[in-house]
Amino acid sequence: MLSGKKVLLGVTGSIAAYKASFLVRLLIKQGAEVRVILTPSARSFVTPLTLATLSKNPVQWEYFGENDPEGKWNNHVDFGLWADLMLIAPATAKTLSKLVSGNCDNLLMGCYLSAKCPVYIAPAMDLDMYQHPSTQHNLSQLKQFGNFVIPAGSGELASGLEGEGRMAEPEEIVSFLEEQLKQGLPLTGKKVLINAGPTYEAIDPVRFIGNHSSGKMGVALAEAALNLGAEVELVLGPNSVVPKSASIKVSHVQSALQMQESVAAKFDNADVTILAAAIADYRPADFVDQKIKKTSAPLEIKLIENPDILAGLGAAKRSDQVLVGFALETQNGLENAEKKLHKKNCDFIVLNSPSANTGFGANTNSVWIIDGKNEPIEIKLKSKIEVAKDILQHIVYKRIAGSI
Ligand code: PMT
Repeated sequence: MLSGKKVLLGVTGSIAAYKASFLVRLLIKQGAEVRVILTPSARSFVTPLTLATLSKNPVQWEYFGENDPEGKWNNHVDFGLWADLMLIAPATAKTLSKLVSGNCDNLLMGCYLSAKCPVYIAPAMDLDMYQHPSTQHNLSQLKQFGNFVIPAGSGELASGLEGEGRMAEPEEIVSFLEEQLKQGLPLTGKKVLINAGPTYEAIDPVRFIGNHSSGKMGVALAEAALNLGAEVELVLGPNSVVPKSASIKVSHVQSALQMQESVAAKFDNADVTILAAAIADYRPADFVDQKIKKTSAPLEIKLIENPDILAGLGAAKRSDQVLVGFALETQNGLENAEKKLHKKNCDFIVLNSPSANTGFGANTNSVWIIDGKNEPIEIKLKSKIEVAKDILQHIVYKRIAGSI
């Protein structure tokens, strides 16, 4: 959820500021880009150097660096507009009160007032301060302004007292952010099933019939669907790239028959199914259980047809399911792909052609999206990751949103 997100982290003067270092590390680990703004008093608790090193970005705490030889102006508006989300952690009682009143006496406050993104606030203070009606009033006011408050935890406090008020742990803060981000996503609550990669059809224990699919296109689709909030199952052929995210459930298969079995078992539960795998149309009629010996006579291998998995799903598909196929064509692409769309009863078919920059193995692709009703949509050459995002945007999201 946080991958690629620009996070502006505001740190205020609380003993919990030391946890900001762990927070920055976790955010970076999740793929976020992090910039840190300190209040002047936060510098007594955590050093700018620590946070700059961990975030890989300079840390700011004042509008104008008096000690900066370049005399650079730190523009709060730029920081506020840069961020996809702003997180103030820890937020002291004093900062909560300023956030409510708009008392803009430091750079962090200037950024907060300029931010157009969602703002998350993780309070940290002693238990009596936390329970005080002023603090509770400020927290409820901040929620009314549309901010998100990450509840403080209970436990031992810096004062030696025990109770509510300590800042949520960095892991809890990151989970909170991820949950919130997920809820706003278009595919949250939807199940997406994707297949990818080649199939290997065994001839004997050491040889097979296969193809050059790397799995990159299907894996990119799986990652893109996950990033839109979907629960993703991926059925992956042999020797394919694997998704980076552990949240994608991967089932590894070898042959077309195994792929059929795995996909069929998951299809009923899927809201959206996309078949991007290059499945062998034929397999050897017989598996020879010992390595075939080389002789001078020609070797004949009888092939029999594999099931057409996409056509099988097309026949079984319910009206509330979206089924997307791929077509790999070397000639009359649009015409042949449209024939496949109808024959296999899919909602959409994505046409691509093999070349040095497209199709098998390449990191880029260019495709046409065909639904048989509207003009085909062309997605020009770009990375498979970007193509995958466009495919989901064009097909799944729009269809689910009811605009196609
Ligand atoms: O994996 P990469 O290296 O990233 O390459 C991506 C890709 C080129 C493999 C991918 O973009 C792609 O085009 N996949 C479909 C390849 C293919 O088998 O096309 P086809 O036109 O032969 O098949 C049409 C559709 O029927 C496909 O959705 C295919 O998955 C499906 N099919 C095919 C045969 C079969 N026995 N069962 C099927 O379900």
